[in-house]
Amino acid sequence: MNLKDLYINYFVSKGHKQIPSAPVVPENDPSVLFNTAGMQPLIPYLMGEKHPYGKRLCDYQKCIRTNDLDEVGDKTHHTFFEMLGNWSLGDYFKEESINYSFEFLTKVLNIPVEKLAVTVFKGDENIPKDEISAGIWESLGIKKEKIAYLGKDDNFWIAGESGPCGCDTEIFYFRSNDEIPKVYDKDDDRWVEIWNNVFMEYYKNEDGTYTKLPVKNVDTGMGVERVVALLENKDDNYQSSLFKDIISTIEDVSNKKYDGNERSMRIIADHIRTAVFIAADKSLIKPSNTDQGYILRRLIRRAIRHARKLDIDINSNFEEKIARVVINQYKKYYSELSENENVVYEVLKNEKIKFNKTLEKGLRKFEKITKNITDNKINKDLAFKLYDTYGFPIELTEELAKEQGFSVDINGFYEKFKAHQELSRSASSGKFKGGLAATGEMEVKYHTATHLLNAALKQVINKDVHQKGSNITSERMRFDFSCDHKLTEEEKKKTEDLVNKWIKEKLDVTKTEMKKEDAIKSGAECMFIEKYPDIVTVYSIGDVSKELCGGPHVKNTSELGTFKIIKEEASSSGVRRIKAILE
Ligand code: ALA
Repeated sequence: MNLKDLYINYFVSKGHKQIPSAPVVPENDPSVLFNTAGMQPLIPYLMGEKHPYGKRLCDYQKCIRTNDLDEVGDKTHHTFFEMLGNWSLGDYFKEESINYSFEFLTKVLNIPVEKLAVTVFKGDENIPKDEISAGIWESLGIKKEKIAYLGKDDNFWIAGESGPCGCDTEIFYFRSNDEIPKVYDKDDDRWVEIWNNVFMEYYKNEDGTYTKLPVKNVDTGMGVERVVALLENKDDNYQSSLFKDIISTIEDVSNKKYDGNERSMRIIADHIRTAVFIAADKSLIKPSNTDQGYILRRLIRRAIRHARKLDIDINSNFEEKIARVVINQYKKYYSELSENENVVYEVLKNEKIKFNKTLEKGLRKFEKITKNITDNKINKDLAFKLYDTYGFPIELTEELAKEQGFSVDINGFYEKFKAHQELSRSASSGKFKGGLAATGEMEVKYHTATHLLNAALKQVINKDVHQKGSNITSERMRFDFSCDHKLTEEEKKKTEDLVNKWIKEKLDVTKTEMKKEDAIKSGAECMFIEKYPDIVTVYSIGDVSKELCGGPHVKNTSELGTFKIIKEEASSSGVRRIKAILE
């Protein structure tokens, strides 16, 4: 039986319900491009909302992390990975969690206890030393010398800057045939982290303070790729059974051996695998110049470039052959892979054709120009031309440059890029570096403008006006609200003027976390109260607007420009619709 099945069976036998893996593109969280951890789709439940499957959950979650995208090519980095997780939502805590982990590792996976070491939180001014976890580990047979107390950097876990969090205990495996040292040493990289058990008791607020969560939760995560490689005694994840068929297909289509071509083969294996999961995902992302689509484009293009390096016949359907292996390997677990199989092949092929049209010329141009460069620097004009004319993602230019010992004027590139009208502003903000934030600069502005419009309509028409919906693109906003009549010219003008007055007043936009009931008591506006967890985010704009909302927003209304209503019309019975722009 494989690791995923063993894991799920074990936790189901301990009263956990298996929940399905959420799509790789988060359904209700525009602050991230992809799910990066098993807990991400569970945030509302970790904050107190009741989960329909109960208090004990387990799953394998598809995760994508793109901040290390350019590191892929070594033995251990991946952009796509699966995370095994089990959760207690206000049910068991440290004792059971640690016992389950220990039993699974030593009894199900048969890992000798000597090969394990653990770390626990040493405590700070806010949160006490975790002697409880250390005591539980000791009682299970982990020697004192193999239990290290470490600080916040190592033993405190949070996804991003604010949110549910807590101290954790991390479990390490001794990956080596050397004699196992008596004492765990955090700087000895033969000790590899395999599992992280987070004891989520707190909510970290934006201002850095901590609030207790309504209940104590457990959130654990174990990376499948890493653990499978360890159990198979491989120090190269790409040589484990998970990648065996993918790599041998790449060997076939390139007619080359893995040995000697590791880097390109790993990049192709990783990037095509990730591209398959993005293209097959529920949201059916297509390659583009923004957000998830841009990541998909980068992955495919980088894979194609490395296929060329291996002299793979680009006009053959090599990408489909590799993708097919990925789909066959994972379709039993993820039904969207069979459902969207043809979509995946089309996406890969179309993007390949698109890129190939210009790739060769671009590479020639790159070579020609770099031959004559004397200062080892690729200037912004060339970087932009490679992007604009030859379809080179800037990261590809950086990679090619690096191979030749050149640097790239990245800032200059982004300046040109921003100035280029057709390109989405969201891609230009450099947000892909961290893999975070799916919303562009303009969308954020429009989002804040909807709050101002909502507040203005209440003043101009009456206080019973409420938001009924909204839709935002980088070009305009649409706002639906309850109102029983067509707005008069005067009402429209007054509304517009009021919003512009608030913009001119340079009002600060502030964010606070509070209990839902307190937020409602304070008079905060809210569209679907039942949709929110018990602890909510409230955005205030000066003292003119207060709304429950996930954000993101601008910091100050002065960033918005000039607000202009371009249309007012009926939306449905008792609901009017305003279309507006910011200039
Ligand atoms: N959420 C924790 C992690 O990703 C388990 O490490």
